[in-house]
Amino acid sequence: MRYTVMIPAAGSGKRMRASQNKLFLQLGDRPILAHTLQRFQEDEWCESIIVAIKEDERLLMEAIAKKFNLSKITQFVVGGAERQHSVHACLEAYDGTSESIVLVHDAARPFIHESTIHDLVMKANETGAAIAAVKVQDTTKVVVSDIVQQTLPREQLWAIQTPQAFRYELLYNASKEALEEQFEATDESMVVERYGALVHIVESTYDNIKMTTTADLSYGHYLLKERGELR
Ligand code: CTP
Ligand code: MG
Repeated sequence: MRYTVMIPAAGSGKRMRASQNKLFLQLGDRPILAHTLQRFQEDEWCESIIVAIKEDERLLMEAIAKKFNLSKITQFVVGGAERQHSVHACLEAYDGTSESIVLVHDAARPFIHESTIHDLVMKANETGAAIAAVKVQDTTKVVVSDIVQQTLPREQLWAIQTPQAFRYELLYNASKEALEEQFEATDESMVVERYGALVHIVESTYDNIKMTTTADLSYGHYLLKERGELR
């Protein structure tokens, strides 16, 4: 099965408190971004990669693509102020068919497993929309001004990750409508749910973390070692 992946990489990583975009920080012997892109470069099902970047980081991005032989990258497109705009810029640049399967995956999640990607692609091919998720492990409550309002039933709670996989036409139309109506979404599923389509869960793994704070760098280092990828 074939797919194209869109990688939003146009953030700045403020919560990491580094002097540069967190995606350029080293994890083992290479930048976080290189790890993420290599997962897709090495996946036989992946046809092409579109990356959303900031214009002033283009040269750095191109240098990484060259150094790590990331030949599946077909385009670097300029992202926007919010992640949602960056993803839409990738969708606008895509030139596949409406039936094609596209994935969206955060550049900041370097530990995605190929088996999860394949499960998502198959599910999206069958249903139109599938997202990676793990069961919530903590008891979760709704709180307003420090006061607990409600305890949510844990068996119904899932923490959502990327990749998120969709039939192209569905995601494009949903994303376009959300932007036109200024609906703010923190993931692609939100826009597709709002558009009226059913979104399916694919169980992912807890190690598919998003590198957000410096604590994630330490854990990421440990994960690389565990996988024998600490070079
Ligand atoms: N992203 C993007 N365009 C934006 C904002 C974020 O392409 N305008 C990307 C980031 O580069 C990252 C992914 O979306 O790969 C997930 O976002 P997040 O982890 O929040 O990264 P940042 O926004 O860079 O970090 P922070 O929120 O701490 O500033
Ligand atoms: Mg952010």
